[in-house]
Amino acid sequence: MATAELAGKHLVLGMTGGIACYKIAELTRLLTKAGATVQVVMTEAATQFITPVTMQALSGRPVYTSQWDARIANNMAHIDLSREAGAIVIAPASTDFLAKLAHGMADDLLATLCVARDCPLLVVPAMNRQMWQNPATQRNVAQLRADGIEVLGPDSGPQACGEIGDGRMLEAAATYEAIASFFAPKLLSGRRVLLTAGPTFEPLDPVRGITNRSSGKMGFALARAAQQAGAEVHLVAGPVALDTPWGVFREDVQTAQQMHDAVMRSVADADIFIGVAAVADWRVDHASEHKIKKAADRALPTFSFVENPDILASVAALPHPPFTVGFAAESGELEVHGEEKRIRKKVPLLIGNLGPLTFGMDDNEVVLFEAGGATRLPRADKQTLARALIAEIAKRLPDTSLIR
Ligand code: C5P
Repeated sequence: MATAELAGKHLVLGMTGGIACYKIAELTRLLTKAGATVQVVMTEAATQFITPVTMQALSGRPVYTSQWDARIANNMAHIDLSREAGAIVIAPASTDFLAKLAHGMADDLLATLCVARDCPLLVVPAMNRQMWQNPATQRNVAQLRADGIEVLGPDSGPQACGEIGDGRMLEAAATYEAIASFFAPKLLSGRRVLLTAGPTFEPLDPVRGITNRSSGKMGFALARAAQQAGAEVHLVAGPVALDTPWGVFREDVQTAQQMHDAVMRSVADADIFIGVAAVADWRVDHASEHKIKKAADRALPTFSFVENPDILASVAALPHPPFTVGFAAESGELEVHGEEKRIRKKVPLLIGNLGPLTFGMDDNEVVLFEAGGATRLPRADKQTLARALIAEIAKRLPDTSLIR
């Protein structure tokens, strides 16, 4: 998870009435763990769903619920509370509160804080699907967007009322990511990034196959960092057990051939291609249609292999390739193999890591290979490293005006 963007930030977290208030306990924990200070302000209705005591314990600060609160010496809570704030985040944002914001109303402490603010405002709607679809709500949301207010979500899925549809609040982790994303420097604003991540799975028969130990963590971290840097991100993922980073378009595939085809369908729209996947070099020539049976009187099965397409090399060989970045996992002599591989694959930038040793781990150490030489980046967790790599890639991009 991204943390650097939130370290030292001061946020006003405004809670309005809704069952999704329970998610804000976890969100507060994530924000404070990332080094942000969180000043909770609750409407009267929010206190019916979760107590100010809980929110005070989690945020480590007194919670404000009333504009008549005498704890602020000058009685200017509606101005003082947001004075140092990097942003006000309203989560959950109820139908009623969105309507109030759209009309600039100031009839309680939180609404007044929003009208009197001098910082960005982010709202995270949470409501029943019919309330969300109501034309008045949609009008209000359109007005908020037009006023420069960030609307995060909503999600769709099962709701507390038992119905299914749009309107439920983003989960705490996704809300956290969306807030971190808001603060990240927009180094890839307007760029489209296509990535591959994870292993591939090459079937032997309907139940067995050949795969590898790639966890997908590095590729997913890069997808998240690119999205946070303002890019439109398309992630082609092999079989991995990871959540899709917030705001990223994900396409799941199994085999190298499927990954190749998915990339080739979308690459014309990409400004940057990053091949992070550990793609199988070979597949079984003819995978069995039925499960291969084991029997004492049968010979052991034998398989013949054919080569898979090299996705990275195919992208780099296009007549007008995007800025193409490869990865290389080596178990030794990285300096020698890294540059050799970059030249063989004809990519401008190849990121080498001490491969199989880092598969599945949270930390990584990489070397950048390019025509000008090799640069080593300090060991870091994969998300920090992903952010550093996105900054390095952004620095090396051709001028926007030259991009296709
Ligand atoms: O040759 P090697 O597999 O070590 O190269 C690694 C790089 O090439 C990675 O960027 C990987 O995603 C890419 N690759 C690919 N298609 C293949 C094999 C590797 O895109 N069939």
